[in-house]
Amino acid sequence: MPSPSAVQHSTSGTRIGDAERPLGRLGLGCWAFGGEQWGGQAEADSHAALDAAIAGGITHLDTARAYGNGASERVLRPFLDRHRDRVFLATKGNAWNADPAELRHELEASLHDLGVDHVDLYYLHWPKSDADMKPLLAAIEDARSGGLVRAIGVSNFSVEQMRDVSSVARVDAHQLGYSLLWRPAEEEVIPYCLEHGIAVVSYSSLAQGILTGKFGPDVPAFPAGDQRPDVALFDPDAWPHIHDAVSQMKRLADAEGQPLVNLAVQWVASRPGVASVLVGARNARQAQQNAVTLARPVSADTLEALTRISDEACRHLPHQPNIFGFNP
Ligand SMILES: NC(=O)c1ccc[n+]([C@@H]2O[C@H](COP(=O)([O-])OP(=O)(O)OC[C@H]3O[C@@H](n4cnc5c(N)ncnc54)[C@H](OP(=O)(O)O)[C@@H]3O)[C@@H](O)[C@H]2O)c1
Repeated sequence: MPSPSAVQHSTSGTRIGDAERPLGRLGLGCWAFGGEQWGGQAEADSHAALDAAIAGGITHLDTARAYGNGASERVLRPFLDRHRDRVFLATKGNAWNADPAELRHELEASLHDLGVDHVDLYYLHWPKSDADMKPLLAAIEDARSGGLVRAIGVSNFSVEQMRDVSSVARVDAHQLGYSLLWRPAEEEVIPYCLEHGIAVVSYSSLAQGILTGKFGPDVPAFPAGDQRPDVALFDPDAWPHIHDAVSQMKRLADAEGQPLVNLAVQWVASRPGVASVLVGARNARQAQQNAVTLARPVSADTLEALTRISDEACRHLPHQPNIFGFNP
């Protein structure tokens, strides 16, 4: 039985597993750099976003094998050649056939494409509901023993699935969808993580761009190949409620003298159990704006007011474990 995980928080971030560097409180999500599922992405913009992020103090990078079948990892490589020693690097594998040998092969392909000898955090990206995940987690624990992986994560797991794999792996982090507009994880998963010393890493923390306040009263239209029309956050029945909530949140942001994006990130960062907030950025401008979101705190009253608006908005969202309605 693996020893229990112990997270240690400090101002520079959270120590997890055997990672040499702390998991930064803010991370750059690199999904869009994969060039698929976000309606196209210019590589030059991805490189500029990475440069802007590190200039703004972001050292936690989050990618996955699934983001363009290694394309996002390959975009990161020249950046890592220059900055590897400063970066907390996380990637994810899937092994859709639930085959540990396939997962090991994926991990090796990730290391090759990233141009690194280890990653700081390796997640199993999605559980497969009809398969035993223990052999996959045991394979990641083997990779940790071999030094290829320093900390182990799961993503999108239920409590039952986390409990199940705890006999074969010491899970250090759980990456899950969490924002002012998506909070199902508060019911069981985050309390389980708190109880077991597992660091929570939030994804889609800006509700895929909604919490920048840039969308109008009509359900937004996206270019072909952008996955957002299939995401619950853009559900046409829920959209009027979401738009109303975001309008109220914007007024709070104006009163604080800060952009809404700051309030959205700070709200997630303030929630129990959350060790790191992932935010995607597609260009230097977005990365610069997002990098400073934690710089100036918002008041406790504003955080409470945001929670109240969020409580009401979330009542109108579809009931499903993740924003994608994905259950592989
Ligand atoms: N484990 C999982 O299953 C999972 C699932 C989802 C995401 N993730 C991870 O979490 C990361 C973040 O989640 P996410 O990308 O889904 O959503 P997000 O961070 O909530 O939103 C990112 C999107 O919002 C827009 N945006 C960001 N900053 C902006 C700014 N300052 N001004 C205007 N627009 C801005 C950009 O898209 P546009 O400019 O096109 O609007 C960007 O791609 C991902 O990159 C990935 O690393 C993991």
